[in-house]
Amino acid sequence: MSLYKQYTEKMRKIADVHYSMAVLGWDREIYLPKKGAKLRTQQVATLAGIAHEMATAADLGELLEKLSADDTLDEWQKCNVAKTLKSYKRQQLYTKEFVIENSNAVSAAYEAWMQARKNNDFSLYEPALSRLVALKRQECEFLGYEDHPYDALLDQYEPDAKTADLNVLFADVRRQLVDYVKQIGEKENVKDGWMFEHFDKDKQWQFGLDMLAQMGYDFDGGRQDISAHPFTTSFGAEDVRVTTRIDENNFSEMFWSCIHEGGHALYEQGLKVENYGLPTGEAISMGIHESQSRLWENNVGRSLPYWKANYAALQEMFPENLKDVSVVDFYKSMNKVKNSLIRTNADELTYHFHISVRFEIEKALIEGKIEVKDLPEIWNKRYKEYLDIDVPSDAQGVLQDIHWSHGSFGYFPTYSLGSFYAAQFYMQAKKDIDGLEQEIEKGNMMPLLDWLRENVHQYGKLYSAEDLCKKITGEPLKFQYFMDYAKEKYNFIYDL
Ligand code: CO
Repeated sequence: MSLYKQYTEKMRKIADVHYSMAVLGWDREIYLPKKGAKLRTQQVATLAGIAHEMATAADLGELLEKLSADDTLDEWQKCNVAKTLKSYKRQQLYTKEFVIENSNAVSAAYEAWMQARKNNDFSLYEPALSRLVALKRQECEFLGYEDHPYDALLDQYEPDAKTADLNVLFADVRRQLVDYVKQIGEKENVKDGWMFEHFDKDKQWQFGLDMLAQMGYDFDGGRQDISAHPFTTSFGAEDVRVTTRIDENNFSEMFWSCIHEGGHALYEQGLKVENYGLPTGEAISMGIHESQSRLWENNVGRSLPYWKANYAALQEMFPENLKDVSVVDFYKSMNKVKNSLIRTNADELTYHFHISVRFEIEKALIEGKIEVKDLPEIWNKRYKEYLDIDVPSDAQGVLQDIHWSHGSFGYFPTYSLGSFYAAQFYMQAKKDIDGLEQEIEKGNMMPLLDWLRENVHQYGKLYSAEDLCKKITGEPLKFQYFMDYAKEKYNFIYDL
C-alpha cells in the first residue's frame, strides 16, 4: 500500500471516531433521557481519548514527515498532508499537565459562570475566569506567534488570521458603522408588532421545512429536529443535520434559525464525499463557515426578492396575522435596526458592535493590559460608547455569553468575519450570475447554490480563507463591501 493510502486510511479511522462522538453529542441534545447523561459523558470521553491517541501516534507523525517530502503528490494531496502535519505538530506542544489543568479550569469556570449569571454577581466568576485567562496567556506562549500573542488563539478558529488585520476591520466598524447606525436611529423606526403575535407551532415547523427544501438542503442526507440552542452537526457530507427552535410568540426565532443553520448545512453537504476524514473534506474556518450561514440568513433571507418569492405562502399559512401587512412592510420588519443589550438578539448591523467590544476585551486580556476584575466596568463603558446603551446588570452585560467560560478566546471575531465575507461573496455572485435576484424572486435558489458549491463548498481546506476570498473576488477581505451592502439596503428601509 502506498504511503499516501496508509495516511488516508488512518485519517478515515480517526474521522470515524470523531463522527461517532458527534452522533452521541447530537443525541444528547435531542433525545437523551435525564439518567443517560452520566454514562454518555463517559462514553464521549472514552472516544475522545481514542481519537487523541490515534491523532498523536508516532507512526502517523513519521508517515506525515515522509509524505511532506514527496513531490509526486498532487495539489490536494499536498494540502491534506501539510494541514494534517500542522495540527499534528500543534498537538505535540500541549503537555499532559496543561491539558488536564485546562480541562479542570474550564469545568470550574463554566460552573462559576452559571452561578454568577444566575445571581447577577460577577465576583463569583472572577477567580475562575482569571485562572483561565492565565492559562490562555501560557498557551499563546507555547504555541508561538510572530506578531501578536492573540494570533495564536485566533489561528485555532480562523487559521492564518492576524490580529493586525482584525484591528483594521474593527476600526472600520467603529469609524463607519457607528455613525451610520446613529443616522438610522434618528429616523422613525419600522413597525414589527405582527412578528410577536401567535404563530402556530406546527405551521411554523412546516414553513421552515419548505424554506430548507427551497434552499436545496438535501433531506436524504440530513434531517431537522428541535433543540434549545439551534445547531448544525455533520457525520460526513451525506448526513448533515440541523436543529431549530420555535417560539409561538415570535415568528423570527424559528425562521432565522432554519435559514442560518440551513446555510451551515449546505456547506457541509457540499464538501466532497471522497475527501471524508481529510482536511480537504472539512470546512476552511469558522469565519468561512459563518459566511455561508449569514449569506443565506442576511443577504438572501433578509432581502426583498426572497420575500417576494415566499411571502404569499406565509400569508396563506397565517392569514389572521399577516393579511393586512404588505410584503414591503414585512420585509422592513425583518430588518429592524435597534441598539440592544444582548448579542444573540442583535440585528445584522449593531451585531458588529457587540463583537467589537468582545474582540477589544479579549485582546487586552491576552496582552495583560487589563485584568479580569475590571471587565464589568470596561464592558459597560464600551456599550455606552458604541451602542449608547446603559447596561442594567452584569447578567445582561459581561455575563451574557458562554464562550469565555469554555476558554474559547479568539472565537468571537469569526462571527463578524462571516458577515463581511458573506457580503463580499454575495456581491461577486450577483456579478457572476445573470439575473440572480430575479431568480430568487421566483423562488429559484439553485443558481446561487450552484455558485456556492462551485466557488466555496467543494474545496474544503484546499485554500486558506484569504486565498479563497482573493480567488473568488480578486481581493482580500474588505469591510467596504459590507458597508456598501448595508447602505444600499438600509437607505431604502429608513429613507435616508
Ligand atoms: Co452560525
